[in-house]
Amino acid sequence: RLSRSLSITSLSGLPLWEEESLDMQDLLLFEVSWEVTNKVGGIYTVIQTKAKITVDEWGENYIMMGPYYEHNFKTQVEKCEPPNQAIKAAMDSLINNGCQVHFGRWLIEGSPYVILFDIGAAAWNLDRWKGDLWNACSIGLPYHDREANDSLVFGSLVAWFFKELTDQLQDKPNVIAHFHEWQAGTGLVLSRSRKIPLATVFTTHATLLGRYLCAGNADFYNNLDKVRIALPLKFSAMHEFQNLHSMNKAKIQEFVRGHFYGHLDFNLEKTLFFFIAGRYEFSNKGADLFLESLSRLNYLLRVQKSDVTVVVFFIMPAKTNNFNVESLKGQAVRKQLWDTAQSVKEKFGKRLYESLLRGEIPDMSKILDRDDFTIMKRAIYATQRHSFPPVTTHNMLDDSTDPILSNIRRIGLFNGRNDRVKIVFHPEFLSSTSPLLPMDYEEFVRGCHLGVFPSYYEPWGYTPGECTVMGIPSVTTNLSGFGCFMEEHVSDPSEYGIYIVDRRFRSADESCNQLTQFMFSFCQQSRRQRIIQRNRTERLSDLLDWRYLGRFYMHARHLALSRSFPGKFKMDHLNLAPVSLSHSLRCTLMHSHFPRSLTMRT
Ligand code: UDP
Ligand code: G6P
Repeated sequence: RLSRSLSITSLSGLPLWEEESLDMQDLLLFEVSWEVTNKVGGIYTVIQTKAKITVDEWGENYIMMGPYYEHNFKTQVEKCEPPNQAIKAAMDSLINNGCQVHFGRWLIEGSPYVILFDIGAAAWNLDRWKGDLWNACSIGLPYHDREANDSLVFGSLVAWFFKELTDQLQDKPNVIAHFHEWQAGTGLVLSRSRKIPLATVFTTHATLLGRYLCAGNADFYNNLDKVRIALPLKFSAMHEFQNLHSMNKAKIQEFVRGHFYGHLDFNLEKTLFFFIAGRYEFSNKGADLFLESLSRLNYLLRVQKSDVTVVVFFIMPAKTNNFNVESLKGQAVRKQLWDTAQSVKEKFGKRLYESLLRGEIPDMSKILDRDDFTIMKRAIYATQRHSFPPVTTHNMLDDSTDPILSNIRRIGLFNGRNDRVKIVFHPEFLSSTSPLLPMDYEEFVRGCHLGVFPSYYEPWGYTPGECTVMGIPSVTTNLSGFGCFMEEHVSDPSEYGIYIVDRRFRSADESCNQLTQFMFSFCQQSRRQRIIQRNRTERLSDLLDWRYLGRFYMHARHLALSRSFPGKFKMDHLNLAPVSLSHSLRCTLMHSHFPRSLTMRT
């Protein structure tokens, strides 16, 4: 097998692991997150994909904590007894005080233990716990803020649990508690203020402040010092991604055949599928820049008389009232044409067979009779339509004010015959049970050619990384953690199918032109070039594997132990100021000890 060196400039800052190995027997590790067994967004992906390497390292001494929801528990968790008497006693203590706490194994790779706290069942404590939080740190919660209230109940239960647990343990084993994002933050604040003997780690995934500042019109990045957070993810090696691309592309093509019925005057073999996906934050996710660039791309392809068509999917959930009739009709028409073709084919085949049995080549112009032509004509008539193929697949509740639709109206990308760029806005996450586009998100990504994520605010951003590990090229920006990570570690990211739009140092118009150029040159690639590029893209997956990146978590845990229990855990050679993982991650990323290149498989 050929081996070649991938020009990764540095995988900086990985500390000296051998010297830090810990005796897990004397430790318990808890990871606390609102998204344990509970999918809300990207944090679930982090927690879920990282589980395996953490279980490999910690075994039975690793336990995750999250909120209990009956449906999640029934579908994702296998109930069992805690492996440890102290954990059981701590849980019982909460249960005896009227709370509901559940234990089991989360049925994901690694099968980690989970302790899940029923938020609703403990909500009657809310007022008292608000008082406790106020006394601890003078933070008051707004009266009706459901999210904040839930997070307080969750945090109070977690801190209470840790108090009971550490009372039981009497300092052996020592406990590390790793809290994710603000929803778990009150647990950390309360544990600290009550002086519960824990080594603590906090990972922030995004800041609400950042989200809101960037969602407005403020020129955030040119005016403020920014904190970006890199929090990597792991994926196992994927095989056969080229075949999977081809298979899933065929499914998307089927959808397109239905959606664009009556307007299929473009060649599907020369049609590229681009997409953007994620929570619907119009400007944070860069949908504004994307639309403007698409309008420029449409112009360029038209004036160049290109035979390439680009179908662009926007997968961003908005308020809807089900699929719209026109989209459903499109798939019904396609199905009807398919059925018609099948029945005519059957008759044709039968007559051809009989004629061959008689030793004759049939007269092709006579092999089909009038009835056959009639049903075919009828089927074709049904494909006539007097409107353009719809831009959106659903009935939108806020149609007139929706930002994607408003911008499409402004730039006039209405799926006209002359448009080389067509738009499909699917305002709901994908599902394999959909009557319209029956694919789950992963299958869909695999079937596309390019993911476009030109985010303005994106602490990490899973979507481009997910594309990478599936061998699908993507566009990201130097305002996303992922984009910066790639810029830092790969010498020419675009060679590997990672296009990084400069949204930090260029004007909006310049960024828009840059994105347009990326997409335009992508459209000019031959199939062969795309296949080669996908191979290169997939090679970057090793860089995103938790086997590498999980080390930053280990490092943070060791650091926390040495700070909380300095008599027992020493880290003499490390003298890093930051306490939070994200910050230490950024610092360690800047100080390289790692080889300058990695040898990877071609
Ligand atoms: N996603 C999904 N179904 C879809 C579209 C997206 O599950 O139809 C997931 C996607 O796989 C990704 C997450 O939504 O893991 C979005 O994470 P990202 O970090 O990009 O953005 P966040 O929502 O955390 O801001
Ligand atoms: C994969 C398949 C090939 C197919 C190609 C299409 O590589 O293995 O058989 O021809 O995808 O690539 P395209 O970029 O045109 O979708």
